[in-house]
Amino acid sequence: MSIKEQYDTYPYPSRDPKDERKRLVTGSPSFPAEIDHYVFGGKRKWRDGTRILVAGGGTGDALVQMAQILTSAKRPYEITYIDLSVTAREIAEARIAERKLGNVTFHTGSLLDAPEFGEFDYIDCCGVLHHLPEPDAGFDALSRALAPDGGIGLMVYAPYGRSGVYPLQSAFGALSKGMSAKDRLAIGRATIKEVPGAHPFKRNTRVVDHKTSDAEFYDLLLHSQDRPYTVGELNSALTSAGLQTAGFMPMAQYDLNRFLPKGVQRPEGMSDLESMEVAEKLSGSIKTHVAYAVKPDRELRLPDPTDPWQVPHLRSADGPRLANLVSRKGKIVMDFPGESVEIKIAKEAAAVIAHVDGRTPLKVICERAGLDQVAFNIMWRSVHDALVPWNELSYSKLYV
Ligand SMILES: C[S@@+](CC[C@H](N)C(=O)[O-])C[C@H]1O[C@@H](n2cnc3c(N)ncnc32)[C@H](O)[C@@H]1O
Repeated sequence: MSIKEQYDTYPYPSRDPKDERKRLVTGSPSFPAEIDHYVFGGKRKWRDGTRILVAGGGTGDALVQMAQILTSAKRPYEITYIDLSVTAREIAEARIAERKLGNVTFHTGSLLDAPEFGEFDYIDCCGVLHHLPEPDAGFDALSRALAPDGGIGLMVYAPYGRSGVYPLQSAFGALSKGMSAKDRLAIGRATIKEVPGAHPFKRNTRVVDHKTSDAEFYDLLLHSQDRPYTVGELNSALTSAGLQTAGFMPMAQYDLNRFLPKGVQRPEGMSDLESMEVAEKLSGSIKTHVAYAVKPDRELRLPDPTDPWQVPHLRSADGPRLANLVSRKGKIVMDFPGESVEIKIAKEAAAVIAHVDGRTPLKVICERAGLDQVAFNIMWRSVHDALVPWNELSYSKLYV
């Protein structure tokens, strides 16, 4: 069963274009404010237009997310969508049409040909490279299609959080060799019921995709080409393709200090990447790696929280709502797959959070909060340090 046949039979993820009337699917990578933060230092001039490639766009989640957010913000863009699957493309086209969005060119083909479509300011490639027969050729092709000062946002599978998946993929593959996609699905669905409760897959409560629909079941447990990457392996693949990592999302997930007991220190001489690899092993629950990458000769400058012209942007709440929570509880709780994280923020910080609306620069927030610059910088730094590592806060001039 070829990859194209699989995704033609089971376009992924399963989406009904009519649902575009009631909700927008958002996520990482490719949330525009997050792209701005990690790729452009919070200073992208979105008004000048953005050339975007969605490589292996599937049924269109990232495509629709970017096209809708940029259209709503009245920022010009041109998006090129490429995917091997015709049926996935049809669903993506229908979703774009349902929302009456424009400036998207659809191509049925391989992302290996990406450089033929020109140079892109931003490339999305979510959940695709680990399915290529030669993933390195895919990393290379995307790197060659990237403009010198552009960036790539990608997602690949990670091994430890998917514990139990690979033995089942291999077993179901052996039992259904040579069969059609539908028959393979029937074998998989019947056999999973016989798999004992002690199997690592059944004990892995964080992997739930197979419960959604046939497309998700097939993608998770019947895939014929699927290799996971540790954080170190992903970093090596990016480096070999002439790229440097600008950030892994969320960064806090890879923070070794979260896992070290009192009295145990990060060993001297351990590199940042090594510490992230150890954190990945200690966490045991990371199912995917989401990363942003840029060309290696670009100076990486993440937004400076003392720069008065940076514009903070909250991901899942608006300023007044988050401020209300913080002022009452002194913390927020964020839900990640299989894990709830408690983030402590001083109650007084609500006074500055209340003014964050994605449009107002720090200088004006400081004035509105009635604080002097020194007091504001201290308070804002605490907000930045608490929320940026969990991706709740980024900096972007998207709406300015
Ligand atoms: C798991 S789906 C991910 C879809 C989408 N990026 C998302 O995250 O929702 C993988 C997609 O990659 C496409 N694909 C796989 N290999 C490809 C290749 N070499 N070139 C273009 N598309 C490819 C498949 O057809 C499928 O639609």
